[in-house]
Amino acid sequence: MKLVHQFIQGKQKSLVFQGAPGTGKSHLFRCAAREMKQQTIEYEENGKKWTVPITVLLLKIPELMKTIQRTFGSGRKDGLTEAKILDAITKVDVLILDEIGGERSKSDPNGFESWSGDIHYQILDHRQGGRKLYNLNYDSKSVKSKYGEVQGKRILSRMMFEAKHHHVVGPDHRIIGLK
Ligand SMILES: Nc1ncnc2c1ncn2[C@@H]1O[C@H](COP(=O)(O)OP(=O)(O)OP(=O)(O)O)[C@@H](O)[C@H]1O
Ligand SMILES: [Mg+2]
Repeated sequence: MKLVHQFIQGKQKSLVFQGAPGTGKSHLFRCAAREMKQQTIEYEENGKKWTVPITVLLLKIPELMKTIQRTFGSGRKDGLTEAKILDAITKVDVLILDEIGGERSKSDPNGFESWSGDIHYQILDHRQGGRKLYNLNYDSKSVKSKYGEVQGKRILSRMMFEAKHHHVVGPDHRIIGLK
């Protein structure tokens, strides 16, 4: 909570939380999104200054992957494309990615989830310089076995760029009391 607080105040550029299910990662990130939507930034265009609300995008990776999949094939009525989604992800002031690596996608002949690995790579590569909050259940070894050694390393490297990492430990609050 302390780290997320520092992030909201602009004292941390980016955070990566790694930890078991039910430890409160998404809960904290949702709180951060709600807080940050109330912040503003100065924006200058053609010599004019504007004060605008900052843009915050919170995405759950498994849902994002499904949305991107649904843009394939015949044209959608709403005109949504993979390129438009990736463009929005790149442009927002704050990107919050919940459940990195949480999707289940089809494995390639080598047993790696290369399609979703490529999408992760693209998103993380584009966001390297920006402010972001990322969380995941997986450790580095699992990320590499999911996407392949080389692609896994590239993903982890970009995920961690300018970010402070924190390992979240604690009970699974969803199952407290379960015998
Ligand atoms: N420290 C806490 N005290 C009380 N309730 C908590 C705490 N942490 C989480 N919870 C509650 O437990 C539930 C699960 O939390 P959350 O969804 O944030 O977990 P998570 O770490 O994102 O899990 P997952 O990795 O499975 O997505 C939520 O209802 C949340 O409000
Ligand atoms: Mg979560």
